[in-house]
Amino acid sequence: MTNRITVNTDRVKGTINRNIYGHFSEHLGRCIYEGLWVGEDSPIPNTNGIRNDVVAALKKMKIPVLRWPGGCFADEYHWKDGIGPRELRKRMINTHWGGVVENNHFGTHEFMMLCELLECEPYINGNVGSGTVQEMSEWVEYMTFEGVSPMAELREANGRTEPWKVKYFGVGNENWGCGGNMRPEYYADLYRQFQTYVRNYGDNRIHKIACGPNGDDYHWMETLMKQAHRFMDSTTLHYYTITGDSWQEKGAATGFPEEQWSRTLKQALYMEELLVKHSAIMDQYDPEKRIGLLVDEWGTWYDVEPGTNPGFLYQQNTIRDALAAAITLNLFNQHCDRVQMANLAQLVNVLQAVILTEGEKMLLTPTYHVFDMYKVHQDAQLLDIHLTSQVVKNDKQAIPQISSSASKDDEGRIHISLCNLDHQSNAAVEIELRGLVEDKVKVVGTILSADKVDGHNTFEHPDQVAPAAFTAFTLEGRILRVDLVPMSVTVLELTTE
Ligand code: AHR
Repeated sequence: MTNRITVNTDRVKGTINRNIYGHFSEHLGRCIYEGLWVGEDSPIPNTNGIRNDVVAALKKMKIPVLRWPGGCFADEYHWKDGIGPRELRKRMINTHWGGVVENNHFGTHEFMMLCELLECEPYINGNVGSGTVQEMSEWVEYMTFEGVSPMAELREANGRTEPWKVKYFGVGNENWGCGGNMRPEYYADLYRQFQTYVRNYGDNRIHKIACGPNGDDYHWMETLMKQAHRFMDSTTLHYYTITGDSWQEKGAATGFPEEQWSRTLKQALYMEELLVKHSAIMDQYDPEKRIGLLVDEWGTWYDVEPGTNPGFLYQQNTIRDALAAAITLNLFNQHCDRVQMANLAQLVNVLQAVILTEGEKMLLTPTYHVFDMYKVHQDAQLLDIHLTSQVVKNDKQAIPQISSSASKDDEGRIHISLCNLDHQSNAAVEIELRGLVEDKVKVVGTILSADKVDGHNTFEHPDQVAPAAFTAFTLEGRILRVDLVPMSVTVLELTTE
């Protein structure tokens, strides 16, 4: 049975904000320490303490924005502990994540340097849960004030004269949970108060981000929007794909029973309902769609790898994760009228990481390859598509066989991403390219697939799951027929003359 897609190449539905391809790095496990920061004296090649291999890989992937320092850690983080001579910085216990000693060697200066190396936007998350209005206000002053001020002078004393540019600033994280267990009514008022003192200095303009709901907590969204929509530029949504029956048994990242394939993808597809329903609430208060919905934590979350610290959230990453990422990114593309940013959790060595490290070794996960293949959608125009997909039934789960999105970049190239969610069968797709006036159309493609449901990369075999050229297509006039192998992600590029 053939799946059908009509791509209306002349109907633009919006712009895909590059920040949809954003990431998240928390002081958690081996994300910051080892994954990004190794220190200047490390034998691992580094630039001012930040590892070069990871930076090079992330730049290739065109990482657009990076969120820091948490997560739950953000609402326990006191930024002044992370500035000044490193050997004098306060040490603390990271109570949320493994109870390990945090030496604060990676602080504001190191994070801003990382973003400069990556050429990406910093997204700083402030502390509402255990911080003060003054502390938050001074952090913004420290980073962005130019001229005579106590915080600007402190910054200069710590070696940085020029203020940094900070656009994205989050006022608290998960304040319905680890960020203070608040009710939405209470947080909305606190948000209004705290954000008042998050100031714009000079020509720096801050995009203020209010802590939004967890998953399907529509009451939180409704209350927050009602009480505080005038004071925010964006609000957030957190949703993790959990496969098992509970948070206690989330399922394994590898070696999982086959029926968990469809369950996982079904859970990932649930993002669509969340986007639609939260957007509908936001529409009531913000019909012009001025306010962004930032999905600043998303991804798969499994049981940790056996023998690792349960508080470090270290998990392997397979072709299943690549599919979960690809279908979620298709959804974000399709909802780019409201979704202005998304941040995969997390960048290195934590949850659905794009990079894993072990000492000096580094590998790129299947999820990395999806972000690399999909970077062509960054800042491109979303094209109108109509998809009629076959349905795959497994273990009482019904999922569509195909997920897709398409865009046109500023050089007129069209990119169509196609996922075959079926882990057993090939998928035939007939794509009608409507509205193309040019005579010659050239098609090239890249595919990511694996030969088993938990195909993944290891430090011994880092390229088992890697992109390859895709040639299983024919083009007759305006009809493009493709044959997708099971559990695969494909990106086609169409150029015209
Ligand atoms: O990403 C791991 C944790 O998940 C974050 O710290 C928190 O915000 C969320 O609950």
